[in-house]
Amino acid sequence: MSSSRPTELARRPISVPTIAASKVRDGAEPLVMVTAYDAPSARVAEAAGVDMILVGDSLAMVVLGYEDTLQVTVADMAHHVGAVSRARPAALVVGDMPWMSYHVSIADTVTNAATLIRAGAQCVKLEGGSKRVEMIEAIVDAEIPVMGHIGLTPQSMHAMGGFKVQGRESHAALQLVNDAKALQHAGCFALVIEGVPDEVAAMITDAVDIPTIGIGAGSRCDGQVLVMHDLLGIEDRMLPKFVRRYADVKSVSVEAVTAFATDVRSGSFPSLDESYHLSADQSEALALYGSTPPG
Ligand code: KIV
Repeated sequence: MSSSRPTELARRPISVPTIAASKVRDGAEPLVMVTAYDAPSARVAEAAGVDMILVGDSLAMVVLGYEDTLQVTVADMAHHVGAVSRARPAALVVGDMPWMSYHVSIADTVTNAATLIRAGAQCVKLEGGSKRVEMIEAIVDAEIPVMGHIGLTPQSMHAMGGFKVQGRESHAALQLVNDAKALQHAGCFALVIEGVPDEVAAMITDAVDIPTIGIGAGSRCDGQVLVMHDLLGIEDRMLPKFVRRYADVKSVSVEAVTAFATDVRSGSFPSLDESYHLSADQSEALALYGSTPPG
């Protein structure tokens, strides 16, 4: 397989046109996207050599403790996009447009997309099919690249009756294919497909010339995305079927903090080596003033 994308660390920045040209059927390697919400996690993603970092609105549930993604605002997203972009990753930074940031007027939609770009994203992502065409065209017209997102769209959780796999019926599957074509036509450079049967994701991937990035959508997309906290095992309260857990960072972290607590309570932390000390003459001078230096 050949790919024009750099795979080495210390890479050249990965651009929207490079991603847009990464179709597996044309010989590209599958794209790798992972979420990150702050500078340290962006550095982890960058050191791992991912193609794209998504500052997802999953921020709401993964980092901010909300029950769903509907709680985050453009200001919240911009705050975290800024943190990620200050890590200066070569990976493309995708800023997720939160609920009610593109369900408003065209002018406000474009302004909201621009806020994420000014915060440091190189493109934005928004959820929904054909009904989003007008907004996508307006954002693209403002020179802001847009990634689409169809299938299980968490911002529609109330309308969908929960986080449910989409496109299980043939008519719904065909609607998703039509949605994907409409988003491509509107100017999207790539498309997330979330929570659909493998067969349907494969149909969508075949039907469009832009790359598809799956999450819970089987192996036949042009790339895959996972939430970093899921794959690292930082978030261990749920393990959705589509998540592969590559580490158990929560357990390692609990062990480490427990050891710290034990050392503090036993008096073994900090040691003399972990403390700052006065020079001998300053200690002596203090002793003259009636203070008793330790040791
Ligand atoms: O917000 C997010 O993390 C996402 C991914 C699940 C694609 O939209």
